[in-house]
Amino acid sequence: MKALKTEGLTKIYRQGDETIYAVHDANFELDDGEMAAIKGASGSGKSTLLHLLAGLDRPSHGKIFLRNKDIASLDSKALAEIRRREIGFVYQQFNLVDIFTARENIILPSLLDEKKPDEKWFDELTEMLGIRDRLEHLPSELSGGQLQRVAIARALINRPAVLLADEPTGSLDRETAQEIISLFLRLHSIGTTIAIVTHDEKIAASADTVWVMDGGEIKRE
Ligand SMILES: Nc1ncnc2c1ncn2[C@@H]1O[C@H](COP(=O)(O)OP(=O)(O)OP(=O)(O)O)[C@@H](O)[C@H]1O
Ligand SMILES: [Mg+2]
Repeated sequence: MKALKTEGLTKIYRQGDETIYAVHDANFELDDGEMAAIKGASGSGKSTLLHLLAGLDRPSHGKIFLRNKDIASLDSKALAEIRRREIGFVYQQFNLVDIFTARENIILPSLLDEKKPDEKWFDELTEMLGIRDRLEHLPSELSGGQLQRVAIARALINRPAVLLADEPTGSLDRETAQEIISLFLRLHSIGTTIAIVTHDEKIAASADTVWVMDGGEIKRE
């Protein structure tokens, strides 16, 4: 099945009398289990596209199908539920909650969904990500690489249909970035469906598809 598919997806920003097509008539697709890398110059629309795919932002035109369900037409309550259950999002700047421990940050999406976190999956995930011994620490007590591992665990705790990542290594030093890249490749190898904005060559070489954005338009490389 297609995990994601867009038709004519467009996001227009108006600033004074200027009209910006941040995403322009984008036809993007991602199969279950596929890893897609998305490249493109600064300002080409990568983050805007990812935010639309995640339901964090609303399109001006066009359709977004998540597992064949048109999410662009959902009301905000239904969309919030889809975001919590079906979409994992990893940011460049981690976006963890400062006053919560690593453990609390990871289970937050389950709690928001009024579900008990799946403890077996929690253990597997935190083991695979190598953060078992950091779980009781606050974000201020973690390194950049550890923060991003916690953010990845949070993104995956509800077993979403897709994992979306927007330059997840952009705030990390080279060596730590390579560790996080290896984790994404590992997640791909165990069947996680991933769309990742990155300039990393290793990801591009291992991805099933590479897409390039230019002035809001997207095409396969
Ligand atoms: N909220 C907004 N209001 C107005 N214009 C916006 C807004 N968000 C993004 N844009 C514009 O839309 C275009 C695409 O921005 P976007 O952040 O998606 O690019 P990007 O490819 O992620 O860039 P970068 O590599 O620097 O992160 C840019 O011209 C940007 O200035
Ligand atoms: Mg961006």
